[in-house]
Amino acid sequence: MSSLRGKRIILAVTGSIAAYKAVQLASDLYKAGALVDTILTAEALRFVQPLSFAAITHRLVASDLWTPDPGGGVLHVELAAAADALLVAPATAHTIARLALGLADDLLGCIALSTRAPLLVAPAMESHMYQHPTTQQHLATLRERGAVVIEPGVGHLASGASGVGRLAEPAEILGYLAATLGRTGDLAGRHLVVTAGGTREPIDPVRFISNRSSGKQGYALAEAARDRGARVTLVSSAELPPPVAVQVVRVETAQQMLEAVQAACRDADALLMAAAVADYRVAHPATEKLKKGAAPLTLELVENPDILASVRGPFVRVGFAAETSDLLANAGAKLRAKGLDLIVANDVSARDAGFGVETNRVTLLDASGAEELPLLSKREVAERVLDRVVRLLAERRA
Ligand code: C5P
Repeated sequence: MSSLRGKRIILAVTGSIAAYKAVQLASDLYKAGALVDTILTAEALRFVQPLSFAAITHRLVASDLWTPDPGGGVLHVELAAAADALLVAPATAHTIARLALGLADDLLGCIALSTRAPLLVAPAMESHMYQHPTTQQHLATLRERGAVVIEPGVGHLASGASGVGRLAEPAEILGYLAATLGRTGDLAGRHLVVTAGGTREPIDPVRFISNRSSGKQGYALAEAARDRGARVTLVSSAELPPPVAVQVVRVETAQQMLEAVQAACRDADALLMAAAVADYRVAHPATEKLKKGAAPLTLELVENPDILASVRGPFVRVGFAAETSDLLANAGAKLRAKGLDLIVANDVSARDAGFGVETNRVTLLDASGAEELPLLSKREVAERVLDRVVRLLAERRA
């Protein structure tokens, strides 16, 4: 996740049994390229050891307010000034109350008051403690001050009970962090509509016609745009977990996708149609499950609306062309026929590019010519496409 690379994150761990999950979180942050300094409250030390974090992050781990600063300054002042984000995960009810009240009786409390970096709080506690009006009021206070509260999940709790209060998963926490750090990116203030997945056209209540599109390229685009500050609406027919801090509109058929795209595009700055929309649908889907029979089954197919061709801007319009032959000629024809600003062409017959895999090899084609990109991760492809979108938006403004 490129937006975390080189970012100074203070990971504050407090005294919840979920503290052990913070070790995984620290590891994921480190792998994403973040520079992680870890603060453990006195109660966190009952659950986890500083060494676990130091071995993973290769950076400072401190609990005591009076820990000497390695650079000779005052530790909480130096950490607070250098931080890009203060992430409290897991956050106990006690720490949430202390943060809301501004208590400064330990290292975390002093850093929280000293820093101007965004605060993210991921609560983890028993359901009753979480739902108590006191905790909820403190969380509301933190939100009012601009903090991002990463809601806990529902499930098995340490007490054996089941309910709300589980620490959010590390991937979700990283998503919120990337989105928060990207708030001032080059797509800040923009609304991007992204489509993803292969549409499903019903044959009967249990069967459908679809294609091999996984939706991964579209999801990578949505996350990358979010992490560059955009508000993102993702119109999706893909079976993938929803990205955090992105508005997801679930659809199945091309017709539903058309309606969702039309609605989302009312105030859009750009539409990126990464979805593999089925060109045809079954004219008359059966209302009951079709039975096996002696006669061959014939399905009458009718053409679906072309979403890109029918949703015309003022906004920037980007198409995707999945081809198995004559890549550039076919993609170029689509660019012109649909009046697009840009088309992302990929040869889906290659094994390392296109459907289902994590990588893609694409050519960016616009009226001025073709730019062939090397084999890249889908996230990197997304970044390159968004570079073009940023440029196109700037040109429109000029
Ligand atoms: O014509 P073709 O389907 O190959 O064009 C691909 C591009 O057009 C993709 O961006 C796809 O999302 C979009 N498309 C569409 N509506 C359709 C078919 C494709 O918007 N019915």
